[in-house]
Amino acid sequence: MKDGNFLKEHNARSMWHPMAHPADSLANPPTIVTGAQGVRISDVDGHEVVDAVGGLWNVNLGFSCQPIKDAIAAQLDRLPYYSTFRGTTNDCVIELSEELRDFFAPDGLTRAFYTSGGSDSVETALRLARQYHKIRGEAGRTKFLSLKKGYHGTHIGGASVNGNANFRTQYEPLLPGCYQLPAPYTYRNPFNETDPERLAQLCLAALEDEIAFQGAGTIAAFIMEPVLGAGGVIPPHESFMPGVREICSKHGILLIADEVITAFGRTGSWTGSRHWGVQPDLMCTAKAITNGYFPFGAVMIAEGVAQVFEKDETGRAAIGHGYTYSGHPVGAAAALACLAETKRLDVPTNAAARGAELFAGLQKLAETHDVIGDVRGGHGLMCAVELVSDRAAKTPIDKATIGKVQEVAYQSGAMVRVSGPNIILSPPLVLTAEDVQVILSSLDKGFASI
Ligand SMILES: Cc1ncc(COP(=O)(O)O)c(C=O)c1O
Repeated sequence: MKDGNFLKEHNARSMWHPMAHPADSLANPPTIVTGAQGVRISDVDGHEVVDAVGGLWNVNLGFSCQPIKDAIAAQLDRLPYYSTFRGTTNDCVIELSEELRDFFAPDGLTRAFYTSGGSDSVETALRLARQYHKIRGEAGRTKFLSLKKGYHGTHIGGASVNGNANFRTQYEPLLPGCYQLPAPYTYRNPFNETDPERLAQLCLAALEDEIAFQGAGTIAAFIMEPVLGAGGVIPPHESFMPGVREICSKHGILLIADEVITAFGRTGSWTGSRHWGVQPDLMCTAKAITNGYFPFGAVMIAEGVAQVFEKDETGRAAIGHGYTYSGHPVGAAAALACLAETKRLDVPTNAAARGAELFAGLQKLAETHDVIGDVRGGHGLMCAVELVSDRAAKTPIDKATIGKVQEVAYQSGAMVRVSGPNIILSPPLVLTAEDVQVILSSLDKGFASI
């Protein structure tokens, strides 16, 4: 490894960073992370902090999960790669598919289609949804509905159903036939409704209205995150996702649960769909499936959808989609070990307990810091603090000020993530109560510094 001076001098010089302006990365070089232990990361200067970002919503079991590291190393020695394209497979992926079938049985999901990450999983789900309808003779069902503020990755399909202009505008025109509906976001919504249950009903009514307008027979699927994550951690009222399920079923529209961040315990339940008592038709997973140690994902498929494909005799169900790394044996080995550890550690229980402490602590911070406009969370270890320069007017905070909060929090002991006016917290699910206090006290100092 090159020394610290070399790294600092060359930081961002010969690479472009995702989700950043190249000039900004040059002017404000990113933190160089060089090591990690447990839930802590350390930078090139030896500064160590609690990682309240959890890698990027993926390192649920922390950075020291030895069984996953061992499984990856052993699989690299035994069979580092073989494809699952028609005609071949590998042993690990067969075993993993059986494990996932058991794991997702309560969600009604019984088949897996493997991908290399979350955006791939979204793309796969959108494509399979259209194909499902074509197999059934409803070729006109091609449109997609989704929520404003939703995040579904960055492929053209995913960006087209995305609900945030930042990920869309510079890449338009996107896929035609995609329509975004108001999100159940109590702090800001077009209905001026602050009651979560009433807002959920209004959003459901907007969904019904849009379906009537478009014509149900033109719509393939509705895609949503059970708790909106990257868009600012927006947990809907408990009636919302069941309401979406009911409306979709009534109109023959598939429900795709984008659980790239919520599957495997994040919400305090094993999946976000289970958290709300909903069985989706397709579920996108990735990230924590390997604890972030190997790029991997799976689209889980409901039994009813699977039957339509498997019973097809027209040939239309042949899947013309897949990735070189679909079912990668090293990823599958990592996922097998990760699943076993995730279950052994019963991470949803800790996510719920630590999440409640974090949420309560953030609400307490809001009592002393006027810059906090809204605190969201209460469903496992995913929280957000929305900052405003004027509480009454809900004026979004400027970039420099929120950047200072982040910097001071980092110097005080916690890495937090900034997204627009939001500070987003998605720490590993193996966090301790002491770690929660470190995050809270670091943020307290951050808020006090502005
Ligand atoms: C809900 C959701 N869907 C899809 C994605 C895209 O995943 P990836 O970055 O692995 O492509 C993300 C990433 O954060 C996500 O949060």
